[in-house]
Amino acid sequence: MLRRAILTVFPTLVTALCHTSGVRVVEPAPNGADSAMAIIDAFQQCGHNEASHRGKVVFKNDTYHIKSVMNTTGLSNVDVDLQGTLLWDDNIPYWLNHSLPVGYQNQSSAWLFGGDNISWVGHGFGTLDGNGQVWYDFVNGTNNYPGRPHQITFTGTQNSYFSGLRFVQSQMWTMTLIHSSNVLLESIYVNSTDSKQEVGFGFSSLNTDGADTVYADNITFRGWTVDNGDDSIAMKANSTNILIEDCRFYTGLGVAIGSIGQYPDTFEYIENVTARNIEVHGMRYGAYVKTWTGVPSGYPPNGGGGGLGYAANLLFSNFTLHGATGIFALTQCTHYNDASGDCDTSQFQVRNLRLEDWTGDCTSDVVADLQCSAASPCTGFEIDGIDIIDTVNNTAPSNYLCDSVVGPTGFTCTGEPWEENSR
Ligand SMILES: *[C@@H]1O[C@H](CO)[C@@H](O)[C@H](O)[C@H]1NC(C)=O
Ligand SMILES: *[C@@H]1O[C@H](CO)[C@@H](O)[C@H](O)[C@H]1NC(C)=O
Ligand SMILES: *[C@@H]1O[C@H](CO)[C@@H](O)[C@H](O)[C@H]1NC(C)=O
Ligand SMILES: *[C@@H]1O[C@H](CO)[C@@H](O)[C@H](O)[C@H]1NC(C)=O
Ligand SMILES: *[C@@H]1O[C@H](CO)[C@@H](O)[C@H](O)[C@H]1NC(C)=O
Ligand SMILES: *[C@@H]1O[C@H](CO)[C@@H](O)[C@H](O)[C@H]1NC(C)=O
Ligand SMILES: *[C@@H]1O[C@H](CO)[C@@H](O)[C@H](O)[C@H]1NC(C)=O
Ligand SMILES: *[C@@H]1O[C@H](CO)[C@@H](O)[C@H](O)[C@H]1NC(C)=O
Ligand SMILES: *[C@@H]1O[C@H](CO)[C@@H](O)[C@H](O)[C@H]1NC(C)=O
Ligand SMILES: *[C@@H]1O[C@H](CO)[C@@H](O)[C@H](O)[C@H]1NC(C)=O
Ligand SMILES: *[C@@H]1O[C@H](CO)[C@@H](O)[C@H](O)[C@H]1NC(C)=O
Ligand SMILES: *[C@@H]1O[C@H](CO)[C@@H](O)[C@H](O)[C@H]1NC(C)=O
Repeated sequence: MLRRAILTVFPTLVTALCHTSGVRVVEPAPNGADSAMAIIDAFQQCGHNEASHRGKVVFKNDTYHIKSVMNTTGLSNVDVDLQGTLLWDDNIPYWLNHSLPVGYQNQSSAWLFGGDNISWVGHGFGTLDGNGQVWYDFVNGTNNYPGRPHQITFTGTQNSYFSGLRFVQSQMWTMTLIHSSNVLLESIYVNSTDSKQEVGFGFSSLNTDGADTVYADNITFRGWTVDNGDDSIAMKANSTNILIEDCRFYTGLGVAIGSIGQYPDTFEYIENVTARNIEVHGMRYGAYVKTWTGVPSGYPPNGGGGGLGYAANLLFSNFTLHGATGIFALTQCTHYNDASGDCDTSQFQVRNLRLEDWTGDCTSDVVADLQCSAASPCTGFEIDGIDIIDTVNNTAPSNYLCDSVVGPTGFTCTGEPWEENSR
């Protein structure tokens, strides 16, 4: 206690204390007690450094039980070495009351983490375990349950590197990168699997997105494996210069652009997204785009609409499908749970989107289902190099279902789209 008081009064001592050893090894609290304070303390003491004297926080090969929220933001020049497991507890009433605001869509988080020039390695075995089954059971298919926490939020994170980390059974979204730039995340394993409910595209481990980007620039996801019940990786408001490459995605919905356009009269955009060299196993789509309608109804996270802006320069290259149920879709019909229609009202425009070199197999005869909004038609769409087999009858899918697609290149529209599910 005395030491903490001194550290608060003389923050410069923090650096000095850390650097007597340079490294801080976090001790798990005894007998399965809450280790959150020990972790917060380690980052307070060793997480704020000059570039010339980096600090290091080490988690041993042990289990750290986490029973309370953590906010370790504003770090600088720190290396994190995770050799063990952080295991969140299952006190649902606590988390519903205490999870921390993410700053978008009324979402909340168990851990806010961030700073400049951070390197965090997990060697392929360092694990964050959200104990998610209790949440999958608890929400029982309710979309975006208020207060249900994301596992971790990287907020205000720049010039940083994350590698070899495992994220299992996330409580909700695995991670959000928000107000962040110049971040590389590679060799990351995410698996949020509902062991009790059959995976269906209606729910199962609903809302367990692998990663979401919001107000984020220059983010690279390389060598990810994601097995979940929702978006593999999703780009939301003001995501720019995003690269997703050499990844394997299982079970979930696909690489997602959106949802976006949820805030009335608010201008948001997504620009320069490349996803390439992607293997898709048993997924709903390889990739899809979703915007809210132009008619607001309800409030985020589950309601909204009427947003402005655009998504542009989107490239989906070299996807290999194994048992996908669909290939590619775009909907501008996303709306509040009970609403429907208004698919031609969104003023959010999608333009310059290219699919190239998609191979493999699926159970659909539709290559692309494109429900663009008449209020802002899609332009600059190109589809090239599709070599996929529909295993239902061993034919090549040949349908392109279009509404408000102006000047398609490389394909001819063959019919009208059907309305997509509202997620
Ligand atoms: C980041 O850390 C490295 C290694 O300590 C250092 O060389 C570099 O100057 C740091 N960059 C910034 C922007 O602080
Ligand atoms: C961590 O410890 C367990 C036993 O407690 C051991 O089986 C495992 O190999 C260790 N992992 C690493 C990476 O050292
Ligand atoms: C997290 O901590 C930072 C200081 O590092 C503070 O500015 C911010 O308000 C905190 N966020 C929450 C949600 O408590
Ligand atoms: C959660 O908050 C409600 C009311 O805000 C309160 O009645 C309840 O005791 C709180 N539960 C926990 C576990 O903090
Ligand atoms: C889950 O919801 C379904 C209906 O959506 C209901 O039939 C079922 O009883 C619920 N299960 C639990 C455990 O509440
Ligand atoms: C936002 O979340 C809070 C709790 O975190 C909840 O009370 C509120 O109803 C939510 N708002 C909406 C519109 O869902
Ligand atoms: C993008 O981020 C990477 C780190 O992942 C960095 O090396 C690169 O310089 C950044 N590019 C720009 C244009 O800032
Ligand atoms: C994800 O976890 C489930 C349940 O443990 C397992 O069956 C599945 O193979 C895992 N997926 C991947 C891609 O490792
Ligand atoms: C998102 O981008 C738009 C267009 O540049 C800008 O007006 C808006 O302030 C941005 N929003 C945030 C929260 O950064
Ligand atoms: C998108 O990429 C182009 C070409 O590299 C670049 O000129 C433009 O600035 C990028 N857009 C954003 C928002 O960074
Ligand atoms: C396409 O992606 C696969 C991995 O899914 C990779 O092995 C292959 O080299 C890629 N092809 C090209 C031309 O990059
Ligand atoms: C192949 O099956 C699809 C359904 O997936 C059907 O729409 C299509 O007409 C069939 N094609 C042929 C040639 O039988």
